[in-house]
Amino acid sequence: MNYSEKVMDHFINPRNVGEIEDADGIGEVGNAKCGDIMKMYLKIDDDTITDCKFKTFGCGAAVATSSMATEMIKGKSISDALQLTNSAVMEALDGLPPVKIHCSVLAEQAVKAALTDYYQKQGIDPEPIVGKVPEMEEEED
Ligand code: FES
Repeated sequence: MNYSEKVMDHFINPRNVGEIEDADGIGEVGNAKCGDIMKMYLKIDDDTITDCKFKTFGCGAAVATSSMATEMIKGKSISDALQLTNSAVMEALDGLPPVKIHCSVLAEQAVKAALTDYYQKQGIDPEPIVGKVPEMEEEED
């Protein structure tokens, strides 16, 4: 399998790994088929994502995509983060092999799951804002 240099870089030196103890939003998503799990922590101040960390128990592409996703939303507004798509993450990594596309989907969903949690904690219904985030993604063959 051929990975781009950027994927290898983010896999070997992932950015923003860890937990945020007093996170404002925590999201956990997984893929039922490969069993990989991604956990995303957000610190949000006045609509801005001031800090973002992740833990990924999964494949190299899952580590690389979650690392890239945190880099892409850190310092951004919530609405920018909500627009983050898995294809944008893949593009930023110079692409992924087809069998690894679902790993980037997990990264997008982890961000959305964390924002869902953030809104729930504020007593706001997240679904009209964030949409529905599946907790476990079934892989499409
Ligand atoms: Fe499933 Fe990468 S193989 S997340």
